[in-house]
Amino acid sequence: MCGIVGYVGRGEALPFLLEGLRRLEYRGYDSAGVAVYHDGEMRLTKTAGRLEALERKLVEHPSAGTVGIGHTRWATHGRPTEENAHPHTDCRGTLAAVHNGIIENFAELRRRLSAAGHVFRSETDTEVLCHLVEEAYAGDLAAAVRRAARELVGSYAAAFLSLAEPHRLVAIRQDSPLVVGLGEGENYLASDIPAILARTRRAVILEDRQVAVVRADGVEVTDLEGRVLGLQVFQVPWDLAQAEKGGLPTFMLKEIREQPRVLRETLRGRIEGERVVLGELEPLLAGVRKLHLVACGTAYHAGLVGKQLIEGLARLPVEVDYSSEFRYRNPILEPGTLCVAVSQSGETADTLAALREARRQGLPTLAVTNVVGSTLDREAARVLHTRAGPEIAVASTKAYTTQLAVMTLLALHLAQARGTLPAAQAAELVRSMVDLPSWADRVLDGEEAAAQVGRVLAAHRDVFFIGRGLDHALAMEGQLKLKEISYIHAEAYAAGELKHGPLALIEEGVPVVALATQPDLAEKLASNVQEVRARGGRIYAVAREGDERLANLADQTMLLPAAPAPLMPILGAIPLQLVAYHAALQRGCDVDKPRNLAKSVTVE
Ligand code: M6R
Repeated sequence: MCGIVGYVGRGEALPFLLEGLRRLEYRGYDSAGVAVYHDGEMRLTKTAGRLEALERKLVEHPSAGTVGIGHTRWATHGRPTEENAHPHTDCRGTLAAVHNGIIENFAELRRRLSAAGHVFRSETDTEVLCHLVEEAYAGDLAAAVRRAARELVGSYAAAFLSLAEPHRLVAIRQDSPLVVGLGEGENYLASDIPAILARTRRAVILEDRQVAVVRADGVEVTDLEGRVLGLQVFQVPWDLAQAEKGGLPTFMLKEIREQPRVLRETLRGRIEGERVVLGELEPLLAGVRKLHLVACGTAYHAGLVGKQLIEGLARLPVEVDYSSEFRYRNPILEPGTLCVAVSQSGETADTLAALREARRQGLPTLAVTNVVGSTLDREAARVLHTRAGPEIAVASTKAYTTQLAVMTLLALHLAQARGTLPAAQAAELVRSMVDLPSWADRVLDGEEAAAQVGRVLAAHRDVFFIGRGLDHALAMEGQLKLKEISYIHAEAYAAGELKHGPLALIEEGVPVVALATQPDLAEKLASNVQEVRARGGRIYAVAREGDERLANLADQTMLLPAAPAPLMPILGAIPLQLVAYHAALQRGCDVDKPRNLAKSVTVE
């Protein structure tokens, strides 16, 4: 998983390439490189390490030129070395390519091309693209790329720059995202929209099996047979300020603090008086007897909350699978089952594969995604957008709480349609959703309490999260947030399970974050907390205002407004994000770009 950019225009290519790569670093950041054309030559500059290293190199050896491509890498084939950094070239160094995705048949292609005399210089799958296009070239780069594509198995968004046709870039996509930005006298290529936003808000989102020829004065898109397609120009609704840090030290903090606003956005137009209105879903839900949710990471945790809400409120059975497991376990998919794929990016390869498998088996599909124009958005039959705006920090925060808001809306919508809740109770819940943004604001006012807990946890090696019911799902998210950005080992347990094994790990001083947002289960949870305290564990509680039971047992408590129980996971997520954030800061971690991770996992 990587980020690619390209520029063709009257200005210098390098400033756009570097600014675009900077905005795509969330896709990967273990090496970077650019190729720039100038005056009959192509200059390649690449480094292992982060973009800063490339920038330093370019200061020493500047690269002038008005056409170029760039890449920020997250290694899949071959270690993150300079040799493996993109762009890669053909045998003669006259063609350069950048690529995001995986060429699954690269070993076989490499063998064939090597036998035909091609010389490989890297361990990457990407390099086969250069040699394939080199082999296919007969005076028309776009035609050569189309011909080469016929041999490829896998996913790719790739851009090519050739000395033979230096005033254009050719790009292709298959199962990896790629947008063409449309400027005045200059045009751009990028893996994702934030990379082009400083220059333009007009974009063409390439579809699978499309090839774009990008020149300074125009863009042409064809299919793989070379037939010219009409340009579908998309006006990007985000501005650059939305994609930047807004004056805060990190994207993660900015995104945590945006939650009241983006929750409001996500609810906008979906609540009318006492009813949830999800017009997007008509008539998809008629006849649905079961839901099967597929997702990864944080989105999976949103699915776990969704399951409890939909089962509890709408009395429909729900299964939740990790997308990466769904395809391989041969799930029983009965008629009447709706597959719901949840993904912030809409580009997670495992989730796309799960959605495709569900479609192959004839299931209707619904996507819950944040990225309009993403592959998931386009492939699912129906879509509910989470409207969180661009999420740049690797750790998902506002995307998660807006996913939870959509899950709650879906559960209430189904409950109202099916009449599974007393009308007054349903109406009360729907009305209370309108207050979510202001409750979230109040939770953010308590940041200092969460920061204190985070700083305490920073000194520990292991942390446990416990909860019951919806709080167990929330505990799962709390532990993931902490481990992914602070590198502290964290585990979540259903609180009632502690005594069946994990309690053996509790000794003097071991920190346990106890989640008590569900009034019906607070009494039971208090007993589990007592079990921990009796063994010397320290309790950091998240509890509702007015519920003293847990506060009295805890070493420290983070209080939440007393909203209705189904809405508490949304509010409870916020202190957990802040705890993780401040623990990571205290430990000096790179909060926005945790080691070994990337924002959008576009490989299986
Ligand atoms: O874009 P997606 O929602 O499909 O991404 C799924 C996971 O990769 C993602 O939630 C990941 O777990 C986050 N880093 C968690 O903060």
